[in-house]
Amino acid sequence: MSLFAKLPEPEIDAVLVLAQAFRADVRTDKVDLGIGVYRDENGNTPVMRAIAKATQDLAANEATKAYIGLGGSDAFNTAILNLLLGSTHDTARIHAVQTAAGAGALRLLTEVVKAAKPDATMWISDPSWFNHAPIAESVGLAWTSYTYLDAETQSVNFAQMCADLETASESDIVLLHACCHNPTGANLTPAQWNEVTALIKRKRLIPMLDIAYLGFADGLEKDGYALRKMTSDLPEVMAALSCSKTFGVYRDRVGAAIIVGETAAAANTARESVMAAGRVNYSFPPNFTAEVITNVLTDVGLRAEFEAELEHMRTRLIANREGFADAARKHLGDERFDYVAAHQGMFSRLKLNPDTIQVLRDDHGIFMPSDGRINVAGLSPEISHRVAIAIKAVS
Ligand code: LMR
Repeated sequence: MSLFAKLPEPEIDAVLVLAQAFRADVRTDKVDLGIGVYRDENGNTPVMRAIAKATQDLAANEATKAYIGLGGSDAFNTAILNLLLGSTHDTARIHAVQTAAGAGALRLLTEVVKAAKPDATMWISDPSWFNHAPIAESVGLAWTSYTYLDAETQSVNFAQMCADLETASESDIVLLHACCHNPTGANLTPAQWNEVTALIKRKRLIPMLDIAYLGFADGLEKDGYALRKMTSDLPEVMAALSCSKTFGVYRDRVGAAIIVGETAAAANTARESVMAAGRVNYSFPPNFTAEVITNVLTDVGLRAEFEAELEHMRTRLIANREGFADAARKHLGDERFDYVAAHQGMFSRLKLNPDTIQVLRDDHGIFMPSDGRINVAGLSPEISHRVAIAIKAVS
């Protein structure tokens, strides 16, 4: 018998299966509300203007493609920390390591946790990004869930979230979405972040922040609140930054693992451990687009252009949310989807059962994963009406 014949079927997560089904569907009026990719008014995901300019410039002037260090480019890592924490952060205790996007950072950090404390449990919100639990499992780290959502109101069930985290053990890892919770769109307020930070401190837990949608909720500065608060109050913090959405560079795989250590020596060991984990996974992180992003962040003109375009994207998501809630009210005659307008970021979940979601796909060409998560960027005024009308027809 051949080696591969013995392989169990791999589990591919629901959003990727959906993306395949969407691509294979021949209907020309099909609607993709699946994978989390920003779309503009025309349904396209263009390269952001500042990124395009810096890309052309770097392509024309790049002097070498020789390897960089295992931790990536120092200039990129500094630019990212300056973006997240401001230029006066503690450079002895806080490090960034360039990674293959946010998933790469999560994987490397999780490996370091496993090496440091093999019996740690990772606490993951229920629900969470499809890939969080599989990443913990891939390194053999135990995980469990904490309550996150009040299913009735689709808002954060903060009291139960805290009650669950109260039962965590010292040095357990709490995985938190720093902003724009995926998949729910329901987020903590700054006051709630303060409370969670105090709980984590008191219980001696360690936060791991997933920062994948910086700039999509309240803007670049405000969306960094959780990381800044935890970095200033806690001895140890980890964060995984994805540049995919914020800079629109999905396929180029740019991100960073961020480590805050209790002492400079411990922080440095953690940094080197992340780099060593990178070495056995993919050696060096991809660099071209990380350098493009560095140039955008450090050039005054390009940075202003980037921030203006990101702000346009952010406000378009808000308008899409309001447009959908209005369309739903109009066609369904009630306020059942008003909560979508109160959410933030790229996603909300429509309270629909999986059978309804399947009929929306089969009969109306509207694609969303079976948990009802919609990519709000995939909406437009016309699509919002179409979805609301289809939901009425199906129910
Ligand atoms: C999503 O949740 O759709 C995105 O984060 C894309 C991905 O990698 O799953």
